[in-house]
Amino acid sequence: MIRIAFVGKGGAGKSTIAGTFARLLARRGEPVLALDSDPMPGMPYSLGVAVDDHPIPEDVVVAGSEGQPRWVLRPGLDASEMIARYAAQCPDSVRYLQFGNLWGPVVRLQQAQFAWSQVVAELDAEQWHLVGDLPGGTRQAMFGWAKYADTVCLVVEPTVKSLHTATRLVKLTQAEWGPSRLVVIVNKAQDHADVDRVSKRLAVEPAAVVPHDPVVAQADRQGAAPLDASPAGAFAQSVEALVEQVTALYSRHSHP
Ligand SMILES: Nc1ncnc2c1ncn2[C@@H]1O[C@H](COP(=O)(O)OP(=O)(O)O)[C@@H](O)[C@H]1O
Ligand SMILES: [Mg+2]
Repeated sequence: MIRIAFVGKGGAGKSTIAGTFARLLARRGEPVLALDSDPMPGMPYSLGVAVDDHPIPEDVVVAGSEGQPRWVLRPGLDASEMIARYAAQCPDSVRYLQFGNLWGPVVRLQQAQFAWSQVVAELDAEQWHLVGDLPGGTRQAMFGWAKYADTVCLVVEPTVKSLHTATRLVKLTQAEWGPSRLVVIVNKAQDHADVDRVSKRLAVEPAAVVPHDPVVAQADRQGAAPLDASPAGAFAQSVEALVEQVTALYSRHSHP
């Protein structure tokens, strides 16, 4: 099963691409669970589902007892129950679990992190392809929120700032728990020079190039998923090419 997490600087296009990727993968008849650990969730827009800002109540976690982690899921709740109750039903049958926060009177970030780790650890590994969206920057990626992923997809805009974040994130692959594969994609590319700049700076050949597509920006203004706004446009086509690439990576591994 595919286990991919999208990382990169804020604004690079992670949520837009990750949600579209999840839907296109699901259209191949595959079960896809979209995992969002951004406290300001962006994935629902590209998945084409309404944003519920308080999807998971804080009472799903309780303090762990002696010998347990600091916070654990309430007895009787496990990963599949969490998905059954809290994962939204999206177009193309994608299920979407938003896990950036738990909400009570205040946001419970630490509780969210522990609950998240438990859900990811208990997930039925055979049941789902996992497509994850991380918040911008390096913090979550470096501190293990992407541990479920064996492939990290680094989304890079051909801007100086985005490239700066990207050079740090490339180091992810060297982390002890690091993903086995790094896939770099250039987003909002306007010409070959954009692509060259990214591959030179990161010393990695991009697996896919997603052009700057005005239709995507337009869809954003209208709150529409790019895939619905333009099902066969340049954006959808290049994300489809990415799905193809990533799927091929996995089949090469299982049939060497
Ligand atoms: N290929 C593209 N062409 C045009 N606009 C894009 C493209 N990809 C993303 N965008 C726009 O860039 C902005 C940031 O995208 P988003 O996916 O929210 O970034 P991130 O999740 O990395 O912070 C959004 O307004 C989105 O519509
Ligand atoms: Mg985002």
